[in-house]
Amino acid sequence: MLVAAAAAYLLCYGGVRGPVDWLDGRSVHRGPGQRRRIALTFDDGPHRVHTPALLDALAALAAPATFFVVGAAVDANPALCRRMVAAGHELGNHTYTHRYLPLRSQARLTRELAFTDRAIEDATGVSTSLVRPPWGGRSPWTLRALAAQGKRAVLWDVNPFDWRGASADELTARVARRVRPGSIVLMHEARDRGDVTVAAVRQLVPRLRADGYELVTVSALLAGGAAA
Ligand code: NI
Repeated sequence: MLVAAAAAYLLCYGGVRGPVDWLDGRSVHRGPGQRRRIALTFDDGPHRVHTPALLDALAALAAPATFFVVGAAVDANPALCRRMVAAGHELGNHTYTHRYLPLRSQARLTRELAFTDRAIEDATGVSTSLVRPPWGGRSPWTLRALAAQGKRAVLWDVNPFDWRGASADELTARVARRVRPGSIVLMHEARDRGDVTVAAVRQLVPRLRADGYELVTVSALLAGGAAA
């Protein structure tokens, strides 16, 4: 059981370089690398304490981000989602109850996505085709089901493990060291240590800009030439 869990973890969640790309072309791990553009993504929110702090930080930095939100949290905090959209951030679907999709039925997967889409639309009037499966969990049939529903699975290629106890300085250094043009960075503001992630963002955005990177939403990154 432990071995199976470890294998699933490695296949789906991956290490610092993101999930293993074992199904080429079925999910997105990064954008085109021709331009020095990066997308910061924040999962599991909205969170009633940490998300407002993150939105304040991003507003002060005039930096766009992409939030992969959990539908149940959206229903609990719709105003925070409206604030995200009003500030020019992008929203993506992170399921309704944060489930590991490969172990769920197709009917359950469909409900997890549909309930979250509806929560986002009810809160903001915005619809999204971006999905980040929780823990990066995906299987061939999961990806087929997402594609059949017109969804794009968005993973990441930079994971600083911001939930595992590092300081804001260390998180900033990790991301700055690992990003390359087109990178998608995975972070979490909606966790116990969300305050550390927010503190890291305040350092990280100026640092990335000093390194010549432009921050854009995931859709803008994937679109290549389009403005954020
Ligand atoms: Ni998550």
